[in-house]
Amino acid sequence: MDKFIIKGGRKLHGEVTISGAKNAAVAILPAVILSDEPCVVENVPTISDVTISLRILEEMGAEVTNIGKDAYRIDPTKITNTCVPYETARKMRASYYFLGALLGKFNKARVSMPGGCPLGDRPIDQHLKAFSALGAKYTLSQGMVDLTAEKLTGAQIFFDVVTVGATMNAMLAAVKAEGLTIIENAAKEPHIVDLANFLNSMGANIMGAGTDVIKIRGVEHLHGTTYTVIPDQIEAGTFMVAIAATKGDAIIKNVIPKHLESITKKLEKIGVNIEQYDDSIRVWVDGPLVKTNVKTAPHPGFPTDMQSQIATLLTLAEGTSIITENIWEQRFRYVDELRRMGADITVNGKIALIEGTGKLMGAPVKACDLRAGAALIIAGLAASGVTEIEDIYHIERGYDCMEGKLRALGADIEKVSVPDTAKNSTDKASAKSDKEAV
Ligand code: EPZ
Repeated sequence: MDKFIIKGGRKLHGEVTISGAKNAAVAILPAVILSDEPCVVENVPTISDVTISLRILEEMGAEVTNIGKDAYRIDPTKITNTCVPYETARKMRASYYFLGALLGKFNKARVSMPGGCPLGDRPIDQHLKAFSALGAKYTLSQGMVDLTAEKLTGAQIFFDVVTVGATMNAMLAAVKAEGLTIIENAAKEPHIVDLANFLNSMGANIMGAGTDVIKIRGVEHLHGTTYTVIPDQIEAGTFMVAIAATKGDAIIKNVIPKHLESITKKLEKIGVNIEQYDDSIRVWVDGPLVKTNVKTAPHPGFPTDMQSQIATLLTLAEGTSIITENIWEQRFRYVDELRRMGADITVNGKIALIEGTGKLMGAPVKACDLRAGAALIIAGLAASGVTEIEDIYHIERGYDCMEGKLRALGADIEKVSVPDTAKNSTDKASAKSDKEAV
């Protein structure tokens, strides 16, 4: 098992370049299945969720060629297998996007249900609602979702909750369905727009992505394309918080400032200075951090995927801050780990009360999910002393070479391999069993 060792207290400075967006890439790669010709996808982050997505495509019969550091040529024309087995699907929650893509292309799909997850219940009822509205029939048995459709026909789909995954899956299933599909109460995240732009670059006819009403006119044929994935809004936000937590001063390159608006506004309220340029931002701190309340919400609200990171920053601010997590029922599991570093946080249901102590102390801690792991890195960078973070496989699912980028900003962080001992092998066994992605 690998772990990070961080010697805290160093201000981050210099420049960092953001990679492609994980939550866009994990939807765009399955979407290639819908094309009748090879596609090239660029600015793909080097993360394990992408590795798994590419492996699934290959196991289905697609030809995947790495044609550059972050670019892949994918030929889906030889895909014959429309099943994603449990063993592969369980490692990545977003494997459910293969349901929408395979159904949209072949009128059938068989994918393992997403496993349990550290964030709490992860239902897919809205995904199934969308597929049914388009004419598909589904069965759930032995942990697998089986979808079949005589024919997919455009429909009106109204989501009961704003859901990124179901909005993406509805688009994937509807792009070749006959007639008009209208998705209402749609999610508006940047990665929703990125998937729609990718599909339109293949000849799809999608309008309104980024608003809460998306209209899709089905087309017969989707051709090949070359497409560049947008920069990762959450990776950028994570680095903004890391620079602020170390009272540093640095430039973050390859960003779309518009995608960062809610994060920027919240950080400025906390006392962080942010200057925006066309595709980069400067972040620095030259005064005290002050208490601020945060409520997570669907885009354009404050992203839930930034909640643990901003909570870590608020432990360093003066005064009492309140965080309300409105999307996931269990997204405060990182708090126990921050308490080991001296944080004073009280959790009650979906609310966390943070008493800013202004300082953190290094300690051995464990990442329990992707963004919790990112929060612990931020805490280690800001803490006095040494922090060791275990179970960093969670972090490597969604951050492209995090330690390398942080070292380039002046952080004292290194990744070390821990030999498998009796204890570790027990940990490893339990980690392997619950190595579910979120
Ligand atoms: C996506 O998850 C992201 N994952 C998550 O990011 C992110 O936290 C989430 O959107 C919210 O922005 C990927 O894109 C791979 P949802 P998703 O469907 O699609 C409920 C990260 O850190 N719901 O928008 O699974 C659900 O319980 C990860 O990168 C239903 O009730 O999230 C939740 O309360 C963590 N029924 C809410 O909707 C459904 O059928 C939002 O979930 C689907 C969802």
